[in-house]
Amino acid sequence: MDIKNLVKQQVRGICPYRPGKPIAVLLKEKGLERAFKLASNENPLGSSPLALKAIKEGLSQLNRYPEGSGPALREKLAKVYGIKPEEIILGNGSSEVLSLSLLTFLNPGEEVILPEPTFTIYEILVLMCCGIPVKVPLNPDFSYNPNRIAKAITGKTKFLFLASPNNPTGTIIKKNELTKLLDELPKQVIVVLDEAYAEYVESPDFVDGISLFSGKHLLVARTFSKLYGLAGLRIGYGIASAGIIEEMNKIRPPFNTTIPSQLAASAALEDREFVARSLENNRTGKKYLYRGLSDLKIAYVPTEANFILIDLAKNAPKICGRLEDKGVIVRPVDNPMMKERYIRLTIGTPEENTLFLKSLAEILRYK
Ligand SMILES: Cc1ncc(COP(=O)(O)O)c(C=O)c1O
Repeated sequence: MDIKNLVKQQVRGICPYRPGKPIAVLLKEKGLERAFKLASNENPLGSSPLALKAIKEGLSQLNRYPEGSGPALREKLAKVYGIKPEEIILGNGSSEVLSLSLLTFLNPGEEVILPEPTFTIYEILVLMCCGIPVKVPLNPDFSYNPNRIAKAITGKTKFLFLASPNNPTGTIIKKNELTKLLDELPKQVIVVLDEAYAEYVESPDFVDGISLFSGKHLLVARTFSKLYGLAGLRIGYGIASAGIIEEMNKIRPPFNTTIPSQLAASAALEDREFVARSLENNRTGKKYLYRGLSDLKIAYVPTEANFILIDLAKNAPKICGRLEDKGVIVRPVDNPMMKERYIRLTIGTPEENTLFLKSLAEILRYK
């Protein structure tokens, strides 16, 4: 029997998540000597040096299993945020935290409201859990539309997923919009607030979900993959009331985060120099790219994250291909309604940003 016939109904229709192309693959494909990857919103400055040092120092412990729930790291995070360690769960990346929340609380046939467009993994996770994704479009300028979200709630709604900043748009849900939604949602709805890029936000309209979760059905997901430069280690965390975390812990794989990842994350939290340098690189890179794109008369969506949604008007996949020829890896947006027009560009180092703008200018001029 064809294995496809044995696949669970919900999994049959899933389009696999397409990660950004690795640099080594492009170098080999095109016979290039160097290439830049600006496709996966990674930290272009590398990893926190204190994290790297902690990993080296912890190498002698690798014959041991990690402490499953990561008590030392949770203790440290609790201190940073002024909350309790029981209000924190660690995950193999924040993606695992999102996944654990659905696996714990979502019954088959229940609805999950997702913004459209958003991080494509959400829909895959919902389908995997036999839930029904209900997509609620953002406004034409990619801001959130809380009225539309409120109208999409039905008796079957179990979750509302919000990403702030949202991927791929870089837009946030404003403080007054989020607090109103949290106050007015029916009690059976759990809000998952994905704050993978929260540390980069500059807007005064932003509210940190960690200041709001107490007493609410709100799970905030954070990661060490972005600002701290530890995407390859896979470590993130969720913050919610102790009751929510306790339920999720029942199904958390016992050793879901590793000794190196726990040690590195803990050290990275104290690496103020690396954090400040990364934030400054993002701020100046953002301004530089805004100016360069405006000079090329290319529209973009102002961002609160470490990437920019760029509106090329047409031919986005073709232009991405031409950029790859020049050693610049970016990607068209996964969403079928947007993929011809938009690309999502990670803000890189000054050198990477310059090469991107130069390459784009050449491609558009000689198209
Ligand atoms: C909105 C959003 N959430 C979560 C993640 C995944 O983060 P992690 O590496 O912690 O699983 C990403 C990664 O790109 C993202 O864009």
